[in-house]
This record gives sequence, structure tokens and C-alpha cells, in this order.
Amino acid sequence: MDINELKKKLKNFNPKMYDHCVRTMEEAEKLAVHYGADREKAKIAGLLHDCGKKMTKGSDNLTHSRIGANFAEEVFKVHDEEILNAIMYHTTGRENMSLLEKIIFVADKIEPARKYEGVERLRKTAYYDIDDAIIISLESTIEYVKVRNLDLDNDSLKTLKFLKEGK
Ligand SMILES: [Fe+2]
Ligand SMILES: [Fe+2]
Repeated sequence: MDINELKKKLKNFNPKMYDHCVRTMEEAEKLAVHYGADREKAKIAGLLHDCGKKMTKGSDNLTHSRIGANFAEEVFKVHDEEILNAIMYHTTGRENMSLLEKIIFVADKIEPARKYEGVERLRKTAYYDIDDAIIISLESTIEYVKVRNLDLDNDSLKTLKFLKEGK
């Protein structure tokens, strides 16, 4: 399916997330060009990464990634394993992430409408060392969670450990 058809379909399917998804798609495309990744796959994964978010009350921050990967396959008929994995792991990352997975993880955090402390630094780092960008992002998420006494997510911790050991 071409990207314009996917956009149309997403707008109907999940209008709440549409604008953020398009911005993430554009950022993912830029990162793909910068790092020499597959541009079309980056666009599709960026566009659909949050297709499963805010659909129902139960789809919280972590589960929407899994639900999104399912929708991408079942509803949007994307059967490319790399794209589906990039959607599946965009919130927590995982050990041994592919370049496409890294691009979607980071594009989501730095798309132009994102406003939070440290985002400018993250934007610069993203185009300089994408692993560092993921490390910075995960560390701030983990800090946020600790300060609020929320449950630490084990997958995020594993990703962080893996990336730091690779440095
Ligand atoms: Fe998300
Ligand atoms: Fe997102």
C-alpha cells in the first residue's frame, strides 16, 4: 500500500494520533536519510508507530506498542517484519535493536512538536550518535519513573544496559 493510502486510512482509524504520527514519519525519514536506512520502511513505521494508542482506556503507554504492531499487520496489511518490530519496540527498545528500530524510537521522542526539558539536546544528539540519543532518552524516562515511584519497566532497563555496554 502506498504511503498516501496509509495516511488516509490512519486518519480514519485513529484521528487522535494522526498529527503526531505524521510528524514522526517525517522525522523518521530524515533520520533514515542521515543514517542510510531504508527510507520507505522508516516512513511506514513512523506513520503507524502509534496507530494503537489511545484507542481504548486499557491501552496504556507500554501495551500500545504491541497493539499497534498487531493493527499494523491486521488492519494496515503491513507484513514486513522489520517495520512491525520497529513499531513493537518503539517505547522500550530492546537489546540488539536494528537501525530502523532505533530511528523510530528516536523520531518519536524528537518530532518537532515535542516540548520537554532536554529535547533540544536530544535533537542534536539524535543526528550525531543515535545510540547516545536512546541512552539519554531512556535515562530520563527511568528518572521520571523513579521520582514518581512508578514501576520501573524491565525492558527499558535491559535496553539501556545493552547500549551502555556497547559503548
Ligand atoms: Fe508510542
Ligand atoms: Fe509516539
